[in-house]
Amino acid sequence: MTDREAMFKGAAEVYDRFVGRYSPQLARAMCEVAGVRPGQRALDVGCGSGALLAALAEVVGGENVTGIDPSEPFVEAARARVPGARVLVGSAEALPFEDGEFDATLSQLVVNFLTDPEQGLREMSRVTKGVVAGCVWDYGGGMTMLRDFWEAAAALDPEGAGPLMESFTMRFARPEELEALWREAGLEEVDLGSIDVEAGYDDFDDLWAPFPTGVGPAGAYAASLDAEGQAALREEFERRLGRPEGPFTISARAWAAVGKVP
Ligand SMILES: C[S@@+](CC[C@H](N)C(=O)[O-])C[C@H]1O[C@@H](n2cnc3c(N)ncnc32)[C@H](O)[C@@H]1O
Repeated sequence: MTDREAMFKGAAEVYDRFVGRYSPQLARAMCEVAGVRPGQRALDVGCGSGALLAALAEVVGGENVTGIDPSEPFVEAARARVPGARVLVGSAEALPFEDGEFDATLSQLVVNFLTDPEQGLREMSRVTKGVVAGCVWDYGGGMTMLRDFWEAAAALDPEGAGPLMESFTMRFARPEELEALWREAGLEEVDLGSIDVEAGYDDFDDLWAPFPTGVGPAGAYAASLDAEGQAALREEFERRLGRPEGPFTISARAWAAVGKVP
């Protein structure tokens, strides 16, 4: 397991309270972007706890969806979430499937975590006879939660957090970079767009709770701080979000690419 894969080895419930809170809405939009329709066979690469797998199953049926992820806890959660689906432990870079086995292969918030994204895309294309679609957060822009988290962290700790900001460290977070990944894999008629979703929180505590558990890169940074550092970061983050009182909603934007296998 690589370091990037290890970031998601924790419990699926924590992920679902964190970035996974946006996943079901994003997943429904991804099915539309990819034009998934009944009668097709679909693959979800980096399926995590199964939000996209569930959305795909709603369209094509659980028996026609396959998911794959290197994290065993996520694979277990995805199996429980989508009964009837085939869910395997494995990596995008070496997919254990036949050439052209799927009509549609989708990957939600994953290509930026791959050790070898170019190989991952080649594999996704190889196993597909229709479309390949994927998306990545607009880390430096419309993904409000992660943008404000990292801006708060870098304001308090420019040397420690500055270089870790996901707007710098994540590849494919700019649309032209994502589009190039699709084209370089040989995909044709590549289309690029944005997807806007939102998530609701009971209060700021509800938003903050997953961070100190170490989930994802932002959580890993929060967990590395001592109690005083965490309290200061929490305070600055809350200030940047406008000190919401009671329930609130924030938006998140992802860039999405879809292309056809020649
Ligand atoms: C941000 S999560 C997205 C999960 C899910 N697709 C969603 O939208 O909720 C990133 C996922 O990529 C998976 N991942 C990391 N490295 C991978 C690899 N080499 N191949 C496939 N998936 C990988 C992680 O285990 C994790 O489930």
